[in-house]
Amino acid sequence: MNDPRPLPFVPAPAWKREGTARLPFWLYTDEDIYQRELERLFYGPHWSYVGLSCEIPKPGDFKRTWIGERSVLIVRDPDGSVNAVENRCAHRGVQFCKEPQGNRKGFVCPYHQWSYDLKGNLLGVPYMRGIKGKGGMPQDFKREDHGLRKLRVVDYNGVIFASFDPKVPDFKEFLGPTMLKYFERVFDGRELTVLGYNRQRVPGNWKLIHENLKDCYHPGLLHTWFINFGLWRADNESLNVMDENFCHSAMVTVRNKGGKGEATEGVSSFRENMQLNDGRFLDVEDEYWWGGPSAVIHSIFPSLIVQQQINSIAMRQVIPRGPRNFDYIWTHLGFTEDTPEMTERRLTQANLFGPAGFVSGDDSEIIGMVEDNMHTDKDGEVLCELGGRDVADTDTHISETLLRGMYHYYRKIMEI
Ligand SMILES: [Fe+2]
Repeated sequence: MNDPRPLPFVPAPAWKREGTARLPFWLYTDEDIYQRELERLFYGPHWSYVGLSCEIPKPGDFKRTWIGERSVLIVRDPDGSVNAVENRCAHRGVQFCKEPQGNRKGFVCPYHQWSYDLKGNLLGVPYMRGIKGKGGMPQDFKREDHGLRKLRVVDYNGVIFASFDPKVPDFKEFLGPTMLKYFERVFDGRELTVLGYNRQRVPGNWKLIHENLKDCYHPGLLHTWFINFGLWRADNESLNVMDENFCHSAMVTVRNKGGKGEATEGVSSFRENMQLNDGRFLDVEDEYWWGGPSAVIHSIFPSLIVQQQINSIAMRQVIPRGPRNFDYIWTHLGFTEDTPEMTERRLTQANLFGPAGFVSGDDSEIIGMVEDNMHTDKDGEVLCELGGRDVADTDTHISETLLRGMYHYYRKIMEI
């Protein structure tokens, strides 16, 4: 059950302005703000990404993950459904499971061996009725009142989301029709397969990675790979699209041939003479399900970004670790229908992404450089008015509309 207690919330210096064209620095550092984000966003009525159905195919298969700072287990029930429980013993709060993945008939806490079935029901309490007539639990103690905390869970076309809040809306309603269309573009029911994982801790506030992946302005400026080879740059055909609450977004682009042009003038990351020694990194094959765009970066707030960039597909899970750090877990994936050549292509192109990716390495580093200054000025503000000060879908990359949209939703839910 979600904790309904109001937070002893002391507002940080007020968000002085209307709208979201200015973002106070303290959004990225303030401990009270961070605690409220955990309660209202991660533990509130939102669906958080927790894994893929193909990661837990058999009864008893489980995977350990996180929603906010809470450790969560997803587990395949013998009846084929998926359960999600908090990794927290009902007795002393022990985070009893430390393995990332495995198979179990049930869960046993190592401290006092309280045992639970795969649904999280409490089965056994050692010495519950005492020894030699002494000790034990009170007579009115009922095991059924002390199971693991059970989460709402949904498996939508092989992608599993969970929520601590029993009042979370239906998943389709949560995404809204436009965002659902982008979700189903990748996840249309085809069987998924995991190609590998990357994990990294990034020295910045968790919101900065959502900003980064709603900021279509930077890719053609920060990333040499993108501007040189045309994968993402200012002169691409493009779209920025949101749901009606501006909670989620899709950033859409169609690659071009790259090289010199209006979009490269004065851009220091453009290297006119740069060439690849190994062409396999950009051996792109258009896929039937793309429907035009060569990349869609789909942010499902607050826990996930789905990346399809050429033939590389990844789930990028966002796990906050205090106001000034987050964990970023990449699950690179493909489809069981892929040919061996396509699997190889997806794996090769995955070198552009992940912690040391030719592209994404730049993002982690720049996020650290943003965070470096956020605590140094309580009145400091981020400027966010490219493309205007309002929020609307656009068809240009020279816009920060998706960032303004995200903070529009955020201000409403956070009540600041
Ligand atoms: Fe980037």
